[in-house]
Amino acid sequence: MITSVVPADPPRPAQAVEAPAVRPADGVLPEERAAAAAPDALWWRDAVIYQVYVRSFQDSDGDGIGDLPGVRARLPYLKRLGVDGVWLNPFYPSPQHDHGYDVADYKGVDPMFGTLEDFDLLVEDCRKLGLRLVLDTVPNHCSAEHPWFLEALAAAPGSASRARFHFADGRGPDGGLPPNNWRAMFGGPAWSRITEPDGAPGQWYLHMFTPEQPDLNWRNPEVPVEFEKVLRFWLDRGVDGFRIDVAAGLFKHPELPDSPDPEADERTRDSVNPLAWNQPEVHEVWRSWRAICEEYTALDGRQRLLVGEASVPTPAEQAMYVRGDELHQAFFFHLLHAPWDSEHFHQVIDAAVRDITATGSTVTWVLNNHDQVRTTTRFGSPERARAAALLMLSLPGAAYLYQGEELGLPEVDDLPDEVITDPIFHRTGNRKGIRDGCRVPLPWAGARAPYGFSPEGSAPSWLPQPASFAGHTAERAVADHASPYHLYREALHLRRLLPQLGEGTLRWIETPPNVLAFTRGDGLLVATNFGTVAAPAPVTGQPLLSSGPCPAAGVLPPATTAWWILPRR
Ligand code: GLC
Repeated sequence: MITSVVPADPPRPAQAVEAPAVRPADGVLPEERAAAAAPDALWWRDAVIYQVYVRSFQDSDGDGIGDLPGVRARLPYLKRLGVDGVWLNPFYPSPQHDHGYDVADYKGVDPMFGTLEDFDLLVEDCRKLGLRLVLDTVPNHCSAEHPWFLEALAAAPGSASRARFHFADGRGPDGGLPPNNWRAMFGGPAWSRITEPDGAPGQWYLHMFTPEQPDLNWRNPEVPVEFEKVLRFWLDRGVDGFRIDVAAGLFKHPELPDSPDPEADERTRDSVNPLAWNQPEVHEVWRSWRAICEEYTALDGRQRLLVGEASVPTPAEQAMYVRGDELHQAFFFHLLHAPWDSEHFHQVIDAAVRDITATGSTVTWVLNNHDQVRTTTRFGSPERARAAALLMLSLPGAAYLYQGEELGLPEVDDLPDEVITDPIFHRTGNRKGIRDGCRVPLPWAGARAPYGFSPEGSAPSWLPQPASFAGHTAERAVADHASPYHLYREALHLRRLLPQLGEGTLRWIETPPNVLAFTRGDGLLVATNFGTVAAPAPVTGQPLLSSGPCPAAGVLPPATTAWWILPRR
C-alpha cells in the first residue's frame, strides 16, 4: 500500500518528465532502424559501462603499472559485478605527459600496456563474456611526439605540415608575444613558441591543455581523413565504440581572436572559452563519425557507440551533441558537478530528462571518473556516495561507473608533492583540481600494498596506495554482503530484471524538504533522503533495495536511497 507522506512546506509539485523524440527528416530514428535489424542493437541506451583506468587497474608484469593483460585477467570480476561493458582509458603509444591523452600513435599499444596481440585477445575475451568494449579516442590534440608534429617542427612556416596544427606568428615587435590571450585549461598560456629549424626564435602553436598536447586543426581536410582511418582501424578489430575526449573541442573560432575573459578555463577548469570550444562546425564531424558507425551496424546489426565528453554550459546545448544523427551519448556532467543537495539533484535530473530525451537519445549519467574527486570524499561520506550511486542507477538512461567506486574508495588526498604526476600540479604549482587522488591503483586483495594490484615482489605501484586501502580490497568487498560492491551488484542485477529500470518515464512525487522521490514506469518507487535526519518514507513496506540499513518501516534514514516495488492497482 502507498501511504503518501504529508508534505512539509512547500511541497514539490508532482510532474512527469517526458519529452517527445525529435524525428529526422525521413521520419525514422537511426535507433529504430537498428532495432528493426537486431534485437540488442540498442544496447547502449540503458547500458552500464565500467571505466577502466588501465594504468591503475591491474598490473600483470610487475612494473607497477596496470596493463591490458591485467584488464583481461579481471574481466570475470566485471562480468560478475554485472556491468554491460568496459571503457578503457588511452593505452596508445604516448610519452605520458597527460597519462595517454597525449597520443603519439593512434593505431598502436604502448609497450608499457602490452601489445596489439594482447588487445586482440582482450576483444576476444570481452566477446566471449558478453561485455562491450569501448575505447578512448583523442581527436582535439595529439602528442608533441606524434610524427605529424615532429614534421611540422622541421618544416617551414606556412607549410602543409604546419597547417595540420594551429601555428601562428607572435605579436609584438619581434613576435615575442603569443598570437592571442587564450589560457590553457591546465594553466599558463595556450601558446608555446618554437625554435625554427635554423635556430631562430619562431612561430607559436596552440595547445588548449599542456604544451606536449598540440591542438589539431580540424579545418585542414587531412585531419578528418586521418581520424576516419583510426576509427576504422579499431572498429575492424572488433570494438563496440569510442569515448570521445574533449568532444566539444576540435574547432576554434577561425580568426583566433582575443577572449574577453581569458582566464575562464583555467579558473573554472572547464571548457568555457566561447572562442575555443563548442563551435558549430564540430557537429559535422560527429555526423560523419556516426555515419561510419552506421556502416558497421549495417553489416551485423550491432550498434557501435559514440559517447562524447562534451562539456558545455547547459543541458540544452549538450542535447545538440546527441541529436539522432550525431553522438549516441554524451556524459551528463551536470549531475557529476551537483553538490549533495536535493534541490540541485532535482534541477539537473529534471533538465537532463527533458532536454536530452527530446533528441531521441537517453541521458548518460556519471558520478565519478578519472578527472574528479571520488564521491565518497566529494559528498562527504561513504553513505552519501552509496545513496547517490543507487539514485543514479535508478534514473532513466545509461550510466558510467569508475573503477573502485564499487569498493567505496575514497579520494587519496594526502599524496606527497613528489609523487604527484598530474600536469595541472606541475603547470600551476598548486594542488587545486589535481587528479592523482582518484587514480591510485586499485586494491584487489591482501592486507599490504600492492594489495594484489601487482604480483608479489614487483616494482612499487606508480602511485603509492595508502594503508586505508586494506579495508577496501575487492576480496573483502566480495566477502562482505554489506559492502558497496554488493549494492552495485544487486542494483545492476535488478536493472536487468525490472522493466521499470533503464529507459522509460520518471514521475516526481511530492516529498518533504531534503527528500527526492519519483516513480519509474509502472510500479517502482525511488526515494533519496539528502538530509541529516530521518524522513518519512513515501511507502511503509520494506524496500526492495536500499543503500544503507532501513530498520524501521516507513522511515528513510539520512543519506539513504531506497527502491520499492509498488503493489499493482
Ligand atoms: C579529458 C580527459 C582528461 C585529459 C583531457 C585532455 O578531459 O578526461 O583526463 O587530461 O581531456 O586530453
